Amino acid sequence: MCNRFNRVLHTTFGDLHTVFLSESATFDYQIITMEIKKIKLGNQGLTVPQIGLGCMGMTGFQEGNMYGKADEQEAIATIHRSLELGGNFLDTADLYGPFKNEQLIAKAIDGQRDQYIIASKFGWEIDENDNVTWAINGKKEYVKKAVERSLKHLNTDYIDLYYMHRLDKYTPIEETVEAMGELVKEGKIGYIGLSEVSSETVRRAHAVHPVTAVQSEYSLFERTVEERGVLQTLSELGIGFVAYSPLGRGFLSGEIRSIDDLPEDDFRRAIPRFQKEYFYKNIELVKAIEALAKEKSVTSSQLALAWIISKGILPIPGTKRRKYVEQNIAASTIELSEADLARLDNIVPLGTDTGKPYDEFSMGLID
Ligand SMILES: NC(=O)c1ccc[n+]([C@@H]2O[C@H](COP(=O)([O-])OP(=O)(O)OC[C@H]3O[C@@H](n4cnc5c(N)ncnc54)[C@H](OP(=O)(O)O)[C@@H]3O)[C@@H](O)[C@H]2O)c1
Repeated sequence: MCNRFNRVLHTTFGDLHTVFLSESATFDYQIITMEIKKIKLGNQGLTVPQIGLGCMGMTGFQEGNMYGKADEQEAIATIHRSLELGGNFLDTADLYGPFKNEQLIAKAIDGQRDQYIIASKFGWEIDENDNVTWAINGKKEYVKKAVERSLKHLNTDYIDLYYMHRLDKYTPIEETVEAMGELVKEGKIGYIGLSEVSSETVRRAHAVHPVTAVQSEYSLFERTVEERGVLQTLSELGIGFVAYSPLGRGFLSGEIRSIDDLPEDDFRRAIPRFQKEYFYKNIELVKAIEALAKEKSVTSSQLALAWIISKGILPIPGTKRRKYVEQNIAASTIELSEADLARLDNIVPLGTDTGKPYDEFSMGLID
């Protein structure tokens, strides 16, 4: 497909990252220059680009893969390409691998640490033998242990944004956040984040130490945070929101047409949204989104990201390929009119049942 966003060249002038978008693949184009906007995340002083890079799929999990097999060289090149285009906000977690993802990032950012903003997460308990126990641990001593491990794997002495990955329902959130606040004082982390938490948990946490960001799943297929009033609470408290799986784990890209397109060991096969009962219904929604994207000469992934950005929300699309990172960053230049937004809302109205985003066990870990 040839469109104005599928050729992205770049240049960097000091701190100003400018993307040149060409009109066609034939280089017979009119150059448009765009600055990748920076936005404030939360009220504590963290500034990030309008779109981040999710790194989870760049490494496997235990013996399997997340979203198909990753190639280390291409993954590292993707991180570098993102930086060249101004996309210096990377998202990882100790769980991914476990640790393999943080180690990959350490390799990619070697010698350039200060140019990146690194977000990592802890909470899924990982034992002394690097095995995930599947318990969630938010106890003070575990938080302290987890950060040291992540610092070591990332080969750095600070993590810019450190999230509690899931709420430990058996440890008061106050204890966890107090420990994270101590890490801020010690300079080991810059800012505090929480992932998949309710409004009540956010309020309790924020009363102990300012929370900078909450990260939860959010896309045209997943709007629970809106339905549960979490976005409203964050805006009231001045906390930023980071949308993970903004492409519905690739579903919204339109590249997955059949369940058989997913490799046998693909993580998504366990998600109800990708299973028979919902898959074929959801594909019809994807086709309608694609038709609108085509009218606008963009891809459906770009439209899905532009929809999130238009709400002042920071998406962190995950990819392990340079081609996609270029397209995703270019999505930050798309302006959607009120009419476009209304049409998207009409295709997937708030409350549309697209199936659960996780299996029963993982749903139980969401606050
Ligand atoms: N806090 C949490 O609990 C949590 C949970 C899940 C994810 N996350 C974070 O959020 C990040 C993003 O979420 P995600 O990776 O789960 O899902 P996602 O961003 O919705 O989708 C990733 C999938 O979309 C594909 N893709 C990306 N850009 C594309 C494009 N322009 N065109 C076509 N396909 C494209 C990727 O392909 P390739 O992989 O082949 O490039 C991958 O299969 C993760 O990397 C992780 O850092 C956090």
